[in-house]
Amino acid sequence: MAFDEIRSVAEKLAAEIAVGPIVPSVTPQEIRGHLAARYDFSKPLDLDEVGADVEAMLRTWQVHVTHPRYFGLFNPSVTPASIVADTLVAMYNPQLATWRTSPAANEIERHTLAWLASKFGLPAGASASFTSGGAEANLSAVIVALTRAFPSYGEHGLKHLPAPTIYVTTESHHSFNKIAHMTGLGRRAIRTIATERNLTMDLRDLARQVAEDRRRGFAPFMVVGTAGTTAAGAIDPLPELARFCRSENLWLHVDAAWGGAAILSPRLRGHLAGIEAADSITCDAHKWFSVPMGAGMFFCRHAAAVGEAFHAETSYMPGKTAGPAVDPYTASVQWSRRFIGLKLFLALAHHGESGYVEMIEHQARMGDLLRESLASAGRGTASTPRSSWPPCTGIRSRGCPRCGSAPALPSCARASRASARARRTSRTSCAR
Ligand SMILES: Cc1ncc(COP(=O)(O)O)c(C=O)c1O
Repeated sequence: MAFDEIRSVAEKLAAEIAVGPIVPSVTPQEIRGHLAARYDFSKPLDLDEVGADVEAMLRTWQVHVTHPRYFGLFNPSVTPASIVADTLVAMYNPQLATWRTSPAANEIERHTLAWLASKFGLPAGASASFTSGGAEANLSAVIVALTRAFPSYGEHGLKHLPAPTIYVTTESHHSFNKIAHMTGLGRRAIRTIATERNLTMDLRDLARQVAEDRRRGFAPFMVVGTAGTTAAGAIDPLPELARFCRSENLWLHVDAAWGGAAILSPRLRGHLAGIEAADSITCDAHKWFSVPMGAGMFFCRHAAAVGEAFHAETSYMPGKTAGPAVDPYTASVQWSRRFIGLKLFLALAHHGESGYVEMIEHQARMGDLLRESLASAGRGTASTPRSSWPPCTGIRSRGCPRCGSAPALPSCARASRASARARRTSRTSCAR
């Protein structure tokens, strides 16, 4: 395997990108014209030529996440190990619907997920699967929570149920609105709880709305606590949410899509205290774990409920493999599925836990620097008192003073130089 070759290609590419623009200036018409002029698929083309053209398109018409001055968005630059992983996956094309077709791939995923589940403090028997991303993991959580709370949901749907409701905040990820639509709950099943000044869930408002809904005949069944909200990185009070959910018999889902990686860091994991009590957790490897998209993860302490939610029996699939093996198509949303987990496995194996801790803690220090720079430049308001938490946490940008657009990035040479150093020592750009 040509690891060195791939690494040197990736490094050469990063060096070239570093001296170019970060954001492309292009219109849809320009790209459509280029494609229409070259590709009517009427005759075969030389692969080298097409490959070169596609590379040129990506090079020119793409936001470059490996650029040393790229601060924004979650999309990480990726480790060479994870690039190799995705190449291997494309080559062998394992099918992860069943265990029997891809034993090695299944066991590599199981091993990786079990390791991370134990970091989150989940019990040994917890269920875990790779997903396309955080939205699918959140969808899985709602389906399993509904299945457990309302045993008739699987067979009869929502028909005979007393209007189930889910509790989120304005800061929660909006995948839950789409999920409410897709599951048939309806978008009005989403209750938006007020937030405190630091953008975390207001527990009194939660208690008030749950009680009010019960009084009005609704059926509260799930609370979503976010560990690292999308816009500001706020962390809901997880231990208190866990206590509340236990006392009210509600499912606690923790959406740690990007913040979950902090569980590896001895310095940061305290911010996630309480996550071990969650009924289910979302965590994306394609965010702070710096692997290529799409790699989400869904963890659930109630393996039996997961099996109940996603069970399927057909004559055209192989029978269940004897022993402790689980066929993923009977324990997750997807059926035919790509070998998602290899990129996380290979990156973890290559960098080791200590490599990840170093990278994550370094980036948290970068977050502190960014926060301080914005505050001292009067360009942001710290909305949470937390320090040593990733870039942009607790910072509400006031928009760019020059063009008025949001987000405002700091024109801070110190932050920029530190960011360039961070790129050299680690490979992730994690921010808003
Ligand atoms: C907190 C949170 N949850 C869920 C998601 C959705 O994840 P994905 O885009 O991987 O589907 C995001 C995406 O940014 C997020 O920030």
